[in-house]
Amino acid sequence: MRRPGSIAPPKGKLGVLTPGMGAVSTTLMAGVELVRRGESAPVGSLTQMGTIRLGKRTESRTPKIKEFVKLAELNDLVFGGWDVFPDDAFQAATKAGVLDSKDLSKAEKFLKTIKPMKAAFDQNYVKNLHGTHVKKGKTKFDLAEQIREDIREFKKKNKLDRMVMVWCGSTEVFLRPEEVHKDMASFEKAMKSNHPAIAPSMLYAYAAISEGIAYANGAPNLSVDFPALEEYAKSKEVPIAGKDFKTGQTLMKTILSPGLKARMLGLSGWFSTNILGNRDGEVLDDPGSFKTKEESKLGALEYILQPKLYPELYDKFYHKVRINYYPPRGDNKEGWDNIDIFGWLNYPMQIKVDFLCRDSILAAPIVLDLVLFLDLAKRAGMRGIQEWLSFYFKSPMCAPQLYPEHDLFIQSMKLKNTLRWMMGEELITHLGAEYYD
Ligand SMILES: NC(=O)c1ccc[n+]([C@@H]2O[C@H](COP(=O)([O-])OP(=O)(O)OC[C@H]3O[C@@H](n4cnc5c(N)ncnc54)[C@H](O)[C@@H]3O)[C@@H](O)[C@H]2O)c1
Repeated sequence: MRRPGSIAPPKGKLGVLTPGMGAVSTTLMAGVELVRRGESAPVGSLTQMGTIRLGKRTESRTPKIKEFVKLAELNDLVFGGWDVFPDDAFQAATKAGVLDSKDLSKAEKFLKTIKPMKAAFDQNYVKNLHGTHVKKGKTKFDLAEQIREDIREFKKKNKLDRMVMVWCGSTEVFLRPEEVHKDMASFEKAMKSNHPAIAPSMLYAYAAISEGIAYANGAPNLSVDFPALEEYAKSKEVPIAGKDFKTGQTLMKTILSPGLKARMLGLSGWFSTNILGNRDGEVLDDPGSFKTKEESKLGALEYILQPKLYPELYDKFYHKVRINYYPPRGDNKEGWDNIDIFGWLNYPMQIKVDFLCRDSILAAPIVLDLVLFLDLAKRAGMRGIQEWLSFYFKSPMCAPQLYPEHDLFIQSMKLKNTLRWMMGEELITHLGAEYYD
């Protein structure tokens, strides 16, 4: 990756486009509005609340991240999106049931102004959704062209300076990268011939990159995670990132397992189950969409624990993930983990985690941070996969010759060191030998 020479300042308005205006997206929009009006603090957002240490521990230089790297102001964000339902953001947020009516009413006027554009949608890829607010087109390529037109129109209408797109749409059925995803010529040909390996989320990603807009993928779908679009993003100087927001249970997994490994404690099994009742849960009730999510959730432990390096501790640990759609819980998921570990002389122990979490409350600040950091990356001339944003993802995208880094603490260090590197500051290794000379 090239080190940025200079970083353009965040002047003017920044458009935030989300394909999918459901629970996560509307919780982000409502939350940003409440924070802008001073009604709440942006809890959970590193870009808004985080600081970064610079130089030696004795220097006391710890600015806020957003001041250190000059991020766009919340007041300059303008929201838009697409959905298969015509509900405006207020109606969609009310149906999602994440925020209570007291908070929603404060943002009501603002949310009602955000109306979804017609979606590029195909039920073959999300079986449990029956949308009506959808685009018509002879080919998938035509649909992608229509999305591009929407983007240009939105930019003009709102007098935007820059834009970022984050996929907040449903999880699509499981697809593996194949021939048509290998290069741009095959990919474009496949869009034009309506090839089944081209899912709607890929059309949004293609449209964003074509328009020079950074793209992040919040779901486990392939979307932008294959060679054709990765190369395309590089050639168009567009930063991309993915995939699948790291919230809830996987967040806990990537906090706990590095600790167990650091202390060389063994693992014989990790059983995770969830109950959730939002639309995401309903979509994941379809085996095709669940398979995509399952693959995304299973990877983290394998990569963190490295069984090949530590066979006595992590070989053959049993890992199971279940997601159960249970409507009474709505967005307030319950995630249980039973963790069977062993210690000195192989004596077994157990850890139980019962996380009564709120999925979209955890996801919204992630989307905000991704928007602001991707905008920064774009202004800095960075392009292609932004691995330093792995911190936010369950299945981090990385260069083909690498394995993904899942450990939250390594990811956090990588993110902050990337910011230091971008700004020409010394990297921090935490060695600190000089304090003891
Ligand atoms: N909430 C979390 O903690 C979390 C964590 C990780 C990943 N995710 C992923 O983020 C995504 C959004 O989650 P959510 O809870 O907001 O789900 P949601 O079901 O509330 O919202 C998704 C919206 O996307 C719309 N949609 C589906 N296909 C579309 C298309 N082709 N074009 C435009 N709109 C489309 C749906 O109509 C729906 O309104 C899901 O894929 C979910 O798996 C969420």
